[in-house]
Amino acid sequence: MVFINAFVATMMATAAMAAPHGHHFSHIHARQNTTVNKLGAAYNDASLVSAITGAGWAYDWNFESMGALPSGVEYCPMLWGPKMYDQWQSAATSALSQGSTCILGFNEPDNAGQAAMDPATAATDYQTYITPFSGQATLVTPAVTNGQGDNIGLSWLQSWFDACNGACQATVMAIHYYAQADVSDFTNFVTSAVTLGQQYGIQSVWITEFQNTGSSDDQVAFLQEAIPWLNSNTDVGRYAYFYAADGYLLSGTSLSPVGEAYVATY
Ligand code: BGC
Repeated sequence: MVFINAFVATMMATAAMAAPHGHHFSHIHARQNTTVNKLGAAYNDASLVSAITGAGWAYDWNFESMGALPSGVEYCPMLWGPKMYDQWQSAATSALSQGSTCILGFNEPDNAGQAAMDPATAATDYQTYITPFSGQATLVTPAVTNGQGDNIGLSWLQSWFDACNGACQATVMAIHYYAQADVSDFTNFVTSAVTLGQQYGIQSVWITEFQNTGSSDDQVAFLQEAIPWLNSNTDVGRYAYFYAADGYLLSGTSLSPVGEAYVATY
């Protein structure tokens, strides 16, 4: 058993570094094998991540994990926004030296209440702080909202890609989605993001925050359709439902009904 566990852990680590498709592992009869690396845990309290059974990766909107993650769960540092510039270089270097293979870009620069950055500044700053890690990690674009209109959501990201003019070196695109809507609204948004990304050489889309904002029952029904769709969509590399905290995926420190639905269907 020790050997098997070590083997699975190695395969999981390998999968986390490669494009996460997972078909190679289908002969291993443990439920986490095929898609563990897609399902993630967005958290503030590292001690809660173990409740998200099967999570292959995690992030905390921060550049350090703030506590140990369960073994086999990859940590992705995030450069949230300008407030982190001073500490970023050494923190990101440290995270990569501890095994992270991913770097997340600015958090909702298209949202005045979050990183609040214009595409041109974000493109310049991305090249200053994140692009130098190209080759050492998978670089993820700034994560935009599903807001509609000029300079928001996918429109903001298109402007950012144009401002980068090929120099930012991100190979993965990050999007967020919040709505009280049918799952088709979500899958349409993800598909639109994939289409945009393909125009700019993006290889994979990660949904680093998403939530159906309806009732608990609404969220369970949403997840029962959304998670299998995400798992089978080879354009989607990773996802993290909002989020590993009491009142969301957890009730106290255990899975809530929403959390159960999140982890049940991969
Ligand atoms: C914020 C993070 C915060 C997270 C969970 C996000 O919208 O940007 O700073 O940790 O929500 O509360």
